[in-house]
Amino acid sequence: MSKVIVALDTSDRMIARSTVDELASFRPWFKIGKELFVSHGQKIVEDVVSAGAHVFLDLKFHDIPNTAAQATRAAAELGVRMVNVHASGGRTMMEAAANALKDISNPPLLIAVTVLTSMGADELREVGIEAPLEQHVLRLATLAKESGLNGVVCSAREVRLIKEHLGEDFLTITPGIRPAWSTTDDQTRITTPADAVKLGTDFMVIGRPITKHKRPQEGYALIQEEIDAALRG
Ligand code: C5P
Repeated sequence: MSKVIVALDTSDRMIARSTVDELASFRPWFKIGKELFVSHGQKIVEDVVSAGAHVFLDLKFHDIPNTAAQATRAAAELGVRMVNVHASGGRTMMEAAANALKDISNPPLLIAVTVLTSMGADELREVGIEAPLEQHVLRLATLAKESGLNGVVCSAREVRLIKEHLGEDFLTITPGIRPAWSTTDDQTRITTPADAVKLGTDFMVIGRPITKHKRPQEGYALIQEEIDAALRG
């Protein structure tokens, strides 16, 4: 599949809306994260949903099971197509979030964050995780699958490991994507769109190479061409 999710990383509602309008003809998904959501709340979700686009509401819930479940349900009621929780919130929390979507018609995909890619082995050890990083990612992804979630956010470099253990249908959502022509910004472990396709990524989250491009439509079109060429093999 390899669908693009454009990250709307801004606190400015007008900038977010103009990005959505400008890219509408490509029919991408859009990611609304904490910055934009805390600034504009459900109004901005309604803006993007009513423009006919699919929204990934990236609020990474991590709370007691009842609170995480109610927040997940509230997100679904806003009409978003993807919502996420931290796998480290545990099995009971993830099961509660999945159960909260059971009686919703056309529910959003429920995705888990495994280990934040900003955390290295040293920082993990500081919070008590002694296992090697990849092993911990796989452990949390397995727990997410067992809890009824649809997939995980991970690095494109972890896609094969996850798919080999949890099946091709278990979705992978991968940030850290940079086309060869783009600046890397603050991303370090990057993968090109073509390589992400070859690795089997289901959704790639891409922000600045599109939103900060001089002509965002051109940036998007170049990325889509690269994806289509890789899909053709
Ligand atoms: O602009 P850029 O393509 O780097 O945006 C990537 C998006 O993915 C940002 O919204 C960033 O917060 C998010 N993200 C990430 N790495 C993760 C999880 C989320 O870059 N591990």
